[in-house]
Amino acid sequence: MISVPKGTKDVLPQDSYKWQYVENAARGIAREFNIKEIRTPVFEHTELFARGVGETTDVVTKEMYTFEDKGGRSVTLKPEGTAGAVRLFIENGLANSPLPLKAFYIAPCYRYERPQAGRLREFHQFGIEVFGSAEPEADAEVISAASLFLDRLGIKDVALEINSIGCGSCRAEYNKALKEYFAPRLGEMCPTCKERFDKNPLRMLDCKEEACKAICAGAPKILDHLCPDCRAHFEKVKSLLGALGIKYTVNPDIVRGLDYYTRTVFEFVSTSIGAQGTVCGGGRYDNLIEELGGAKTPAIGFAAGLERLLLLMENTGIEIPPAGTPDIYIAGMDEASRLKAFRIAGELRAQGICAECDKMARSVKAQLKFADKIGAKYVAVIGENELANGECAIKRMSTGESEQVGSGIFPPI
Ligand code: HAM
Repeated sequence: MISVPKGTKDVLPQDSYKWQYVENAARGIAREFNIKEIRTPVFEHTELFARGVGETTDVVTKEMYTFEDKGGRSVTLKPEGTAGAVRLFIENGLANSPLPLKAFYIAPCYRYERPQAGRLREFHQFGIEVFGSAEPEADAEVISAASLFLDRLGIKDVALEINSIGCGSCRAEYNKALKEYFAPRLGEMCPTCKERFDKNPLRMLDCKEEACKAICAGAPKILDHLCPDCRAHFEKVKSLLGALGIKYTVNPDIVRGLDYYTRTVFEFVSTSIGAQGTVCGGGRYDNLIEELGGAKTPAIGFAAGLERLLLLMENTGIEIPPAGTPDIYIAGMDEASRLKAFRIAGELRAQGICAECDKMARSVKAQLKFADKIGAKYVAVIGENELANGECAIKRMSTGESEQVGSGIFPPI
């Protein structure tokens, strides 16, 4: 028996309606916010993520599915959606389209992580990216799209946390303060933190080691080191969120796990799905487009993990309306009536009605049992009499009531 690879999951026929429900909600939000869909390849040149996501991140150093293709190129399964979206934006000259440009995607992502509840090696993201606006209104709109999406799904057990991690100039000051703080404590920290101390001290704040976490708790906070422009931007974002009635708390410890962020960062966090409680995360990335070879273009976005959302909905008892069942099952008795049933089913389908008939050579009794199991709303049985007089009874399964109709003329379903 070959099993599904570790950290991946099948979606079974009886469960796919749940995925469709969440994806439809995502598409509904995109429509209301006037956001167009983009699709990028599942794999990209490795360099895109190394440069885009950041050489000091866990994602790039430990978690990428990277391999050489038969042409000797290093390619990587996308660990997230932003870098590919930015590549698409630059490569297709979309900076010349009316800005801001708003794009969304629903796509699989791959990270070689240790699987646990809510953490997979293949997972799916619904992401929104807004290119071209440096204004706080873009931040607030993106956050409000995430908030409305979670609302639509009926998710209440989630809290919005926001922070600002500043721009290049305040970050330089902050890095200095971090280095001063960490230098005398470096001996007690993990090898990765020691490496990050030189390359990117901010990333040390993202360490998962208990000893390092304890030291990080006392580190200087970025919010105390913001430049006046970044401070004003953050204040405006907060006031716009207030104006939209979106509740949030400021969490000065959010730094996010990817290197491209500037200014606003945010996460929607739940306590109902265990350790992996972040269902949605995002922020501004004003330098990434330039860093990847485009013209300097500010941008902001978020991504929500669909598996975590479904887990959260299940754990908090949110019922997803079940998928549609067949409108009608048409049973046949002998060869001639079976053929008739088969043809009626075909005609009904052509009219947009979901019709089923036997393909298992079952007896009428077994066909009716099957019709009941698959939840058919109506059942019709074609026999000798029905064939002779061109009429049959159709039975509404929920009430047991029957009605006599001419073949092909069924009541509106
Ligand atoms: P991220 O925080 O790395 O951000 O991932 C976003 C969401 O993807 C997480 O909040 C989580 O729900 C889900 N996720 C991440 N890793 C896993 C995993 N191993 N298993 C299951 N779900 C997972 C980004 O990816 C950014 N690109 C978001 C963004 C868009 N920022 C700006 N624009």
